[in-house]
Amino acid sequence: MEIKTAALPLKATGTLVVYVAEDSMPAGRAAEVWKATGLDWDKVATAASFKGKQGQLIDLLAPAGVAAERLLVLGSGKTGQGGGLSAWTDRGGSLAGKLMNLKAARAAVLLDDEATPAQVAELAAGLRLRHYRFDRYKSTKPDENGHTSLTVTLHVDGKSALDKAIADRQATVDGTLLARDLVHQPPNVLGTLEFAAEAQKLTELGVTVEQLDEAAMRKLGMNALLAVAQGSDRPPRLVIMQWNGGKAKEAPIAFIGKGVVFDSGGISLKPGLGMEDMKGDMGGAAAVTGLMQALATRKARVNAIGVIGLVENMPSGSAMRPGDILKAMSGTTIEIVNTDAEGRLVLADALWYTQDRFKPQFMINLATLTGAIGVALGNDHGGLFSNNDELSGRLIAAGLATGEKLWRLPMGQAYDKLIESRFADIKNSGGRPAGSITAAQFLQRFVNDVPWAHLDIAAVALASPTSETNTAWASGFGVTLLDRLVRDNYEGK
Ligand code: BES
Ligand code: MN
Ligand code: ZN
Repeated sequence: MEIKTAALPLKATGTLVVYVAEDSMPAGRAAEVWKATGLDWDKVATAASFKGKQGQLIDLLAPAGVAAERLLVLGSGKTGQGGGLSAWTDRGGSLAGKLMNLKAARAAVLLDDEATPAQVAELAAGLRLRHYRFDRYKSTKPDENGHTSLTVTLHVDGKSALDKAIADRQATVDGTLLARDLVHQPPNVLGTLEFAAEAQKLTELGVTVEQLDEAAMRKLGMNALLAVAQGSDRPPRLVIMQWNGGKAKEAPIAFIGKGVVFDSGGISLKPGLGMEDMKGDMGGAAAVTGLMQALATRKARVNAIGVIGLVENMPSGSAMRPGDILKAMSGTTIEIVNTDAEGRLVLADALWYTQDRFKPQFMINLATLTGAIGVALGNDHGGLFSNNDELSGRLIAAGLATGEKLWRLPMGQAYDKLIESRFADIKNSGGRPAGSITAAQFLQRFVNDVPWAHLDIAAVALASPTSETNTAWASGFGVTLLDRLVRDNYEGK
């Protein structure tokens, strides 16, 4: 899909799109267009049951007086309510959905001057997010003409400010779509090395990328991460991405991702039904990679680190066993009671390493960590766990602004007790009660005083319900959210 901007006056061909707010008449430029049709607004709106609610439309073919094949009048909801940025993203998504349904190849959107560059950039973001689909392995692509070629031109005043805002926001969209692509890729295609190679490509954008192989990680004592990988033929990798767009001496911010390219459960094998979804158990690492790409593409004025632990969790003669005791890089000993609680083992060493090496301002890890988070929150919020109220507040605010919402869950000593082990310092599972919280308690054992947040995205990153901005299986959850967190709080202007 292609998005363009054009200065006025309008030279529309294809489909012309104008917006009308709830319970109102066409106003501004939309009014001029409507006037040219010579039609009676009240009669048409009544006939179409059009009230201006978001999602409602009036679809006129070959209207008189208008240089377009089709005029689409779309509802934009209540004025005032439309100010929130994510309402504009949804509006763009909704528009893409309509245009694809109509198999429109070209559309021109006529906007009024009140729309700010940031809002129009969200509309443009929503268009592309909705247009996305993952059909790489389909021999015949569904809806070829309705889908593959769609050009949308946004007609506005003040084109140059807008072009900058759009390009900036599209950088983040590209990051989200990269994350979705990575999550969708089948596990035979995207193993640990293949994922690492994708991350390595960020060097083209000025990101410094390093890879630690098994020997390097063994030297560092990363035995928790390595234990997960030892049952698989695929070698583990720790990939470290650094984007230095901020001041030279400023401490970096750090993002850490769980990258289990396939989670069979290991010896504590998962049930067969739905196991194919576990190709998406690298959703945290995908979001971190997409975020780093976004930050580098838009040249964010921040120093950011992305660390992803890439492993495959498989059952085999060399796999870790329930009962095994390992010593993590931090020195903490871990009794394995369930080999399917593997993500926390990967993160334990990745968090410790990041904190130790980079002394970051904060660490945020993303992980498809527990099925229990979907039991607690469903798929409308990701789970947030943190040792810091300020960081939590900023994350929650970024969630509300982007629609990638978070809900904070409690942590504390009583939960921490549940992972005490009879034979080692801790065990890797506290059983069913508070399963997402005990997983967070486990992670916190590998975090010192640095502000830290853990996002459990198991129920929001994959098997997503369709929304205005996504109809695909993977959502890319986390990229828009964390990009917004960085934009709003960490890019010293
Ligand atoms: N990768 C899974 C969690 C998951 C479940 C992600 C569903 C996405 C969708 C994780 O490694 C896991 O297996 N967690 C266990 C933890 C348990 C063994 C303590 C779980 O949730 O059952
Ligand atoms: Mn697991
Ligand atoms: Zn897992």
